[in-house]
Amino acid sequence: MMSQNTQVYPVIWNEDSVLLIDQTRLPSEYTFVEISRCEDMAEAIKTMIVRGAPAIGVAAAYGMYLGAREIQTQDREEFLIQFEQVAQLLRSTRPTAVNLFWAIARMLRTAYETIGSIEQLKQILLNTAQTINAEDLQTCQAIGDRGLEVLPTNPDKLSILTHCNAGALATAGYGTALGVVRSAWREQRLGRVYADETRPRLQGAKLTAWECVQEGIPVTLITDSMAAHCMQRGLIHAVVVGADRIAANGDTANKIGTYSLALVAKAHNIPFFVAAPLSTVDFELASGSQIPIEERDPAEIYAVGDTIITPDGVEFYNPAFDVTLAELISAIITEHGAFAPNELQQFGTKQMVENGAISR
Ligand code: MRU
Repeated sequence: MMSQNTQVYPVIWNEDSVLLIDQTRLPSEYTFVEISRCEDMAEAIKTMIVRGAPAIGVAAAYGMYLGAREIQTQDREEFLIQFEQVAQLLRSTRPTAVNLFWAIARMLRTAYETIGSIEQLKQILLNTAQTINAEDLQTCQAIGDRGLEVLPTNPDKLSILTHCNAGALATAGYGTALGVVRSAWREQRLGRVYADETRPRLQGAKLTAWECVQEGIPVTLITDSMAAHCMQRGLIHAVVVGADRIAANGDTANKIGTYSLALVAKAHNIPFFVAAPLSTVDFELASGSQIPIEERDPAEIYAVGDTIITPDGVEFYNPAFDVTLAELISAIITEHGAFAPNELQQFGTKQMVENGAISR
């Protein structure tokens, strides 16, 4: 196990390969998987060795470089054709988190816009992936700090409920929802985190609880069905979750179970915040109904560990994400500050026009 207060970086460039923390083995084993080929990065994303929207984006950016460096031709047109195939492989891994598509598009754009030899282009692609990695870390730190502006000021020590894992493990480091938690802890405004276990993959139990323990943040684990009860008992002062894709109207796709949390928070008059970088906003989608929802292997719900828990003859439905309607969201906390969901589109359009900060 790691010692306390060690920084967690789930995706690391290490001389000529990528090291990924193997998130399928936490919390019992803290190990790394070395990735040297684009195909292996695609598999690592699919199998959730690396997961969480921004971390998937960073991993895909490195995957694009790994694919690029294997392309043998010195002909630019041919290089771009083969590089598009690399992009297609990585795009096919997981459908919901838009950061994946955003990072791939940024790498492609770099290739199309770079003039020079193929060797120079490959080096610039590596630099771009490293920049995406570094920017995400800074962005998360900014999200964490901007979150302090909207968290309730009463009581002095907040109890914050979170769902899934939107922490350092799900980003380049620091986290989005857990970034807000980390900043609140630093400023002595946090009493405790309540972590939903997050069936079926248990990211809350395995990953969020682990991150909190590493940092010495008091954490109480509950099963997903206990959240309403905790709210009714006055144990929760705010809910903060991450996002996989936010539509232009503020509707937000996040881990399955987020929508019901938002409904219950509304019923108890508890603020419900989404924390995410602007790269998670898909300004091309008008509303959440257009967000593709990943369906995963039914084995995730019919088995617990190696034990099958259902009788024969049952059918299964295993959507990995749901969409929380904008009207249930108190604010979307980004690196540029917190927005009411209906302010997001106006801000995004202004950014795009002013400096091209959001483009895909
Ligand atoms: O299926 P996962 O584990 O990749 O889902 C992750 C989530 O839903 C996170 O809440 C989201 O990606 C935000 S991560 C900062």
